[in-house]
Amino acid sequence: MMKILVLGSGGREHALVWKLAQSPRAPTIYCAPGNGGIAAEPGVECLAWDGKDIEALLGIASKLAPDLTVVGPELPLTLGVVDEFQKRGLRIFGPTQRAARLEASKAFAKEFMRRHNIPTGHYAVCASEKDVSDALVHLHGRIVVKADGLAAGKGVVIAENRDEAAAVAKEMLSGAMLGAAGASVVIEEFLDGEELSFLVVSDGERLVPLAPAQDHKRIGEGDTGANTGGMGAYSIDALLDPQMREWLLHHVARPVIAGMKQEEAEYRGVLYCGLMMTARGPQVLEFNCRFGDPETQPILLRLESDLAEIFTAAADGRLREEEFTWSKEATACVVIASGGYPGAYEVGKPIRGLDEAALVQGVKVFHAGTARSSAGVLAGNDEGVSPSQSRLVTSGGRILGVTARGASLEQALSRAYEAAGKIHFDGMYFRKDIGHRAMKANA
Ligand code: AMP
Ligand code: GLY
Repeated sequence: MMKILVLGSGGREHALVWKLAQSPRAPTIYCAPGNGGIAAEPGVECLAWDGKDIEALLGIASKLAPDLTVVGPELPLTLGVVDEFQKRGLRIFGPTQRAARLEASKAFAKEFMRRHNIPTGHYAVCASEKDVSDALVHLHGRIVVKADGLAAGKGVVIAENRDEAAAVAKEMLSGAMLGAAGASVVIEEFLDGEELSFLVVSDGERLVPLAPAQDHKRIGEGDTGANTGGMGAYSIDALLDPQMREWLLHHVARPVIAGMKQEEAEYRGVLYCGLMMTARGPQVLEFNCRFGDPETQPILLRLESDLAEIFTAAADGRLREEEFTWSKEATACVVIASGGYPGAYEVGKPIRGLDEAALVQGVKVFHAGTARSSAGVLAGNDEGVSPSQSRLVTSGGRILGVTARGASLEQALSRAYEAAGKIHFDGMYFRKDIGHRAMKANA
């Protein structure tokens, strides 16, 4: 019997667990630490873990002896979880610490792109205020300031002008804003266009693209307000025509995989290319060394293949394009968040209406920040309390990803919104305009 361990606790990990569970190999799935929704999936067990203690995780893994481990978030990757598992002969899907620098350091990513001629915005890496003022001389209009290190989505500021850019860069460099993550900053030209999330799976040499997706990063309707982890996403083939897909493979994805190999940082895992489709062609905004959240929810809803086989093949260096088949359907995910997110929010709010929402045709509700109230934290600790006695409560910023399939994007969205309308908790918030760009383009 195949055992799979999934690391993480968000909507992305719920989607991974749900899809892996459909494998014809009928695997037993463990998730560390998981969430309220993952714990409720049949045959899935959640294990307590703090998300960053690699020693503790190695202890769990040596007892469990999983046949495959799948890493959801970037933090364990940048802490070297893949290197440690590989040293112990444990099969794991994800890039090594050295390869994960593509996400962990924006300066590394930009300079890597320069070395390998990968299209990206003009930029300068700055370690001091002097560097910043030099960099700003050449730029006008809106300017993007990015902390070099990981900042959980808070490290990118779009400044209206040079003065604001200089002030933001100064605050980042001082450490006041983001600590060590801001020890150096990338100053970048503002790029205008449609965003596209283009993800590929690689075994270090070969690579296979996933269905394309578009995220909605801002908190407010019409793409206004603060940046978030992502408030909704959808996947339709029309986001990426076959010619552009070839172009992106040729000019972005393959040069990354080949370049990393050449630089002795072989890249196995998912490579997330965040792109801006500008008037002068696609430009890379960022790389992530993992699946996107919420993009994974609509992407995996369209995958017809055995995800356990795909990950195993990639980890073993024998990936084949034939392994991927996709539904022609459209899929969409509406994220329901706690009021106040991405700023301060309250937790512990009881969630109602999930059973009704699940009855809407074509809908799957993925959980992110949910927990069983009896334990206060995660499942596995609520001895003596049956699931029906314990209540599902909110435990984070993003709570649920209401995801639906349909014959068209319009149908997928209307199903997702019908289901979202059946769900209630105090202060809940979701955007009503997910997919608005594609819907307008079609009108
Ligand atoms: P990143 O973490 O680099 O992807 O940045 C987060 C978000 O900020 C992106 O998804 C874009 O919406 C926005 N962004 C980043 N860089 C730029 C840029 N050069 N021009 C315009 N928007 C950007
Ligand atoms: N949804 C954007 C990300 O996962 O980084």
